[in-house]
Amino acid sequence: MTERCDLLITNANAATMDPSIPGGYGAIEDVAIAVTGGRIVWIGPRNELPDCAADDVVDGEGCWITPGLVDCHTHLVYGGHRASEFARRLGGESYEEVARAGGGILSTVRATRAASAEDLYRAAEPRLQALLSEGVTTVEIKSGYGLELDTELKQLRTARRLAQHYPVDIVTTCLAAHALPPEYDGRADEYIDLVCEEILPAVAKEQLADAVDMFCESIAFSVDQCQRVINCAKELELPVKAHAEQLSQSGATAMAANAGALSVDHVEYINNMDVAAMAENGTVAVLLPGAFYTLKETRVPPVESLRASGVCMALSTDLNPGSCPIASLRLMMNMGCNLFGLTPAEALAGVTRSAARALGLCCSRGVLRAGLRADMVLWPMDTPDQLAYEFGALKPAKIYFGGRNVTAG
Ligand code: NIG
Ligand code: FE
Repeated sequence: MTERCDLLITNANAATMDPSIPGGYGAIEDVAIAVTGGRIVWIGPRNELPDCAADDVVDGEGCWITPGLVDCHTHLVYGGHRASEFARRLGGESYEEVARAGGGILSTVRATRAASAEDLYRAAEPRLQALLSEGVTTVEIKSGYGLELDTELKQLRTARRLAQHYPVDIVTTCLAAHALPPEYDGRADEYIDLVCEEILPAVAKEQLADAVDMFCESIAFSVDQCQRVINCAKELELPVKAHAEQLSQSGATAMAANAGALSVDHVEYINNMDVAAMAENGTVAVLLPGAFYTLKETRVPPVESLRASGVCMALSTDLNPGSCPIASLRLMMNMGCNLFGLTPAEALAGVTRSAARALGLCCSRGVLRAGLRADMVLWPMDTPDQLAYEFGALKPAKIYFGGRNVTAG
């Protein structure tokens, strides 16, 4: 390492989440972390730190340091809200019934089409700020409330614009195959033609999406239609992911995994063949306990079988106006443990290392290691188990984005 560094943090412990360090958290107690040019240049036990002078020496005051959190599945750019549907669901209507009656995703499509780019940006800001205040430093944002070229572009441009103004990396995903727009009622295959021939090529041309997503479900698109979207994404050299097996079993997870999907998300209804396909292809299972909780689902993802097969499990908010209007990744850690049976260490891996992998960023984010970008959060806690256990009072003491202190307030 260089003899002079920009930032040196000592008197702290690190949950590095580096799988090469034994123990679920890859813990290094009494750690020293040196940062130069926005990257970690040295990390290890303080008593092994080479001679090093730093411009900024930070006393970690006994905090635990984790990687910046990664929220790998959100729909946080949208118009309007769906509070009235919440009341209808409380009255006994199901998510599918509301969707089939023209509400659900289509209700947000109407509001998003009607919103100006400025409206969308202003509405997204507090959602993003809520995530950032919890130590999130990378966020994925999907389109999918446009379902027509101009509005899909408007959503994706808004997502990119957020990244210019906030200390966060934003990864964008085109989810044009989210629902059938009303003008294509009864003509789903023709809408998939539009997605493949017009929307995805235009999005790719403007480099507005880092990946392509789709919703494979009886209220959305069939496995064959999703396969067409995947083929098109591949031609455009864009990685794919899928919303699948959320409400029923369709075989979409195995299809997407066998096509090399980065992740399949929701996965409550996957079977052994789906799990085997994910394991074989290194596809991440993104668990979304907030949607499960909000929709009062009862079928939990087969965590034991995913674990036994070595499938990486990420956790995310799914932040959206319908199935999860909850802007808290920390709460998802708690729900992942309480509702799905993850361990606290799996929950932290799910919002760091595994979430980065779900975005195709496994070698650059989600782990504290020399050479990687210094996205780090200092937490005033005695053990990293507290991150999944406690909610509300435990907040980041300091947040670093690329080595820069971006702690709010
Ligand atoms: O991930 N499953 C599909 N899409 C979202 C919900 C979108 C909505 O209800 O607006 C999800 O749960
Ligand atoms: Fe989603």
